[in-house]
Amino acid sequence: MIVAKDLVKEFKIYQHHRGAFGAIRNMFSTKHTIVRAVDQISFQIAAGELVGYLGPNGAGKSTTIKMLTGILVPTSGELTIGGIVPWRERVKHVRRMGVVFGQRTTLWWDLPVIETMELLRHIYKIPERQYRRNMDMFADLLGLSEFLNIPVRSLSLGQRMRADLAAAFLHDPEIVFLDEPTIGLDVLAKERIRQFIATINSEKKTTVILTTHDLGDVAKLCRRVMMIDRGKVLFDGALAELVSRFGGERRLIVDFAEEYDDLSIAGARIVAKEGRKVTYAFHSNGNGVAPLIENLSRNYKWADISLQDPDVETTIRHIYEQWEGDHSSEYC
Ligand SMILES: Nc1ncnc2c1ncn2[C@@H]1O[C@H](COP(=O)(O)OP(=O)(O)OP(=O)(O)O)[C@@H](O)[C@H]1O
Ligand SMILES: [Mg+2]
Repeated sequence: MIVAKDLVKEFKIYQHHRGAFGAIRNMFSTKHTIVRAVDQISFQIAAGELVGYLGPNGAGKSTTIKMLTGILVPTSGELTIGGIVPWRERVKHVRRMGVVFGQRTTLWWDLPVIETMELLRHIYKIPERQYRRNMDMFADLLGLSEFLNIPVRSLSLGQRMRADLAAAFLHDPEIVFLDEPTIGLDVLAKERIRQFIATINSEKKTTVILTTHDLGDVAKLCRRVMMIDRGKVLFDGALAELVSRFGGERRLIVDFAEEYDDLSIAGARIVAKEGRKVTYAFHSNGNGVAPLIENLSRNYKWADISLQDPDVETTIRHIYEQWEGDHSSEYC
């Protein structure tokens, strides 16, 4: 169980002086500005959840992940993971967690993948049977055996990411933090990694916190999403709720049983018409689709009706675009 309360992380940025004496002046300079990367964030995550942590560039996602992993100490606020404060009991915490930073590897650059895994086996004191079982699973789900003998520095990006994932999950951690695990990968490689994350989460009940800019990752994996912007949580809830709250218009597709001259109905507008098949767009505004269908049934004979909800990708893109708009007006 993760409990975060009013977490704040500020960075001091010192002014840099240029020129011949700049370096010397830098050493004594105390002039700085403060960036508040994470601004009073509170949340709870239960064991076994798979949560998407989303937000635009610079929102504070990686900073939060670094506090959760114990790499960074918050400026203020409280954080416990399974009763432990990550940065105070790092050794204990590291045993229970795994982490992947998609932007850079956490593996030893010059070692072949298999030696990296052997080294981790010793570091974490993983029993032989558990090690074998997990390596078999990684061979199966991540195709790890294809490149076990290649040094990490020679791996392709997709292979390196798979090796990083295997390393993060090798010791059966209770919690795994994945910071952009599909960045830069092709469609098939992404799909494979998503499948892996979904399988481990459902079979081993591993808690997963995932940050990503790939909306396909979110649609495929996350039941719950937390959205942050400029260090603040703007939404925390079910993905389905996010879509219904911010998703814009829903579509109702009606196949009429007869020809009609006027097919307009109150509360919806016609966006497509093909023979007797008509597509309406509408905002449900909490009333759902029932009033529209009642209205239709009172006035027309129809053969078939189907409903299309806005999809996750469109909705999240829409939210990001709105934020982008808000930011740019401020920077002008
Ligand atoms: N070590 C640091 N020193 C100074 N500022 C930092 C440091 N790390 C992060 N920041 C600043 O904190 C803010 C949040 O950065 P963070 O890396 O957490 O964003 P992010 O949500 O992960 O963004 P992205 O989607 O681009 O990865 C940014 O303004 C960033 O410049
Ligand atoms: Mg980041």
